[in-house]
Amino acid sequence: MNIAVIGCGYVGLVSGTCLAALGHQVTGVDVDTKRVAALQAGKVPIYEPGLSEMILQQTAARRLGFTTDLPAAVRDSQVIFVAVGTPPSPNGGYDLSMLFGAVENIIQSAESGKTIVIKSTVPPGTGEKVAQLAAKSAHRLEVVNNPEFLREGTAIHDFMNPDRIVFGAGTAEGLAVLREIYQPLIDKGFHILSMGRASAELSKFGANAMLAMRISFINELSRLASAVGADIESVRMGIGSDPRIGPAFLKAGIGYGGSCFPKDVAALVHQMESLDIEPHLLSGIEKANQQQRQHFVTRVLDAVAGGGKPVIALWGLAFKPDTDDIRESPAVDIARMLAKAGCTVRAFDPEAMENTRRVLGDAIVYATDVHAATTGADAVIVATDWSVFITQNWHGIKQIMRGTHIFDGRNCLASGKVSAAGLHYHAVGRPPVKPGGGREGTVGVVVAG
Ligand code: UDX
Repeated sequence: MNIAVIGCGYVGLVSGTCLAALGHQVTGVDVDTKRVAALQAGKVPIYEPGLSEMILQQTAARRLGFTTDLPAAVRDSQVIFVAVGTPPSPNGGYDLSMLFGAVENIIQSAESGKTIVIKSTVPPGTGEKVAQLAAKSAHRLEVVNNPEFLREGTAIHDFMNPDRIVFGAGTAEGLAVLREIYQPLIDKGFHILSMGRASAELSKFGANAMLAMRISFINELSRLASAVGADIESVRMGIGSDPRIGPAFLKAGIGYGGSCFPKDVAALVHQMESLDIEPHLLSGIEKANQQQRQHFVTRVLDAVAGGGKPVIALWGLAFKPDTDDIRESPAVDIARMLAKAGCTVRAFDPEAMENTRRVLGDAIVYATDVHAATTGADAVIVATDWSVFITQNWHGIKQIMRGTHIFDGRNCLASGKVSAAGLHYHAVGRPPVKPGGGREGTVGVVVAG
């Protein structure tokens, strides 16, 4: 099938490339001429494991191409995916101007029989508005919703092995087109959920809000754990072993970030309030998320107080490992707060340095590697759980530090290894461990009996 994907950002690039790998003929369209030129030259503007290689494979196989010519791509395609950005608007909702701009352009160029697939995350009701716009055109166009649930860092795997493929179709014809597109995945037995447009849209928001709520829940509980001498890692297992609950997304830490959770939770609150529905639970999720990082910074500042100007080694800037994305990253916020409090912040991240420099400028120091960030530091903060941080030699780290405090903002280190090197280990919602006081073993494992 000939498919145009409007928007060569994160979702558009991953979806378009994977659709090509499923055997479709895909044209990626973007208004950014530099981006399109780079993609045509085989340069991929975002970091996502495996994506560059896959784009090169699919372009070499002539199943994937890139252009700025939207009308031509629409004319040549039977299906047009809309994957443009839907950034947050200042009022807490979604800024849908790019989405509706793209839709207007598509409608102007599309003849009857084409299907518009909304892939961008959009608030419930948006698909219906797009369908009404399409209905006003001279041609008969289908509009369907097909929200994307992929996670950054594992995006290709998630697209190719979806937990569910959600179809939000207004008509049987729209549904049939979506089925044809995803037939290779349907043949492999992946799960299709067919529903109305608004239900598909709300499924995406609901899933993200639920996951964000679990993180804020465990983080709130981690504060209580610290106050009563409990270990939140043990509690997580005590809670998550109940099959009705499960252990995923119950990892305490400095909180969530990224382009989805903060924006989607805010948009749900905004939409509910605009409909006079009180968002009791939802309105607390982001508040708890923000407090978690502030509380963490306070603990770090308390530990390094009393000397001269504190030097903090900040390990990690991306909102999670295996991405260069720093949008709403708690690590970047923590860097900002520490710098504002008068600390010298020396940061290192395997992928997110350039993106951070664009946002924080000279407020912090950008180190060339872990050791350069850590030499002479009073404290180390692990803010992103990259494996390169987890596998450090702690004896070596102790030797180059000025102080002895390791703050594990992701509860990802083995306290035994850290403390055996003569370091103080501070996690989130876990009792602090003095030098030599930790136990070997995987983090959080509770031994029976
Ligand atoms: C998320 C959803 O998982 C995905 O389905 C949706 O399509 C987009 O939003 P993503 O933003 O890539 O994906 O990140 P995700 O892996 O979900 O992690 C979000 C944040 O939560 C990260 O900052 C992560 O560190 C944090 N997190 C996750 C925790 O703090 N604790 C956990 O237990 C899990």
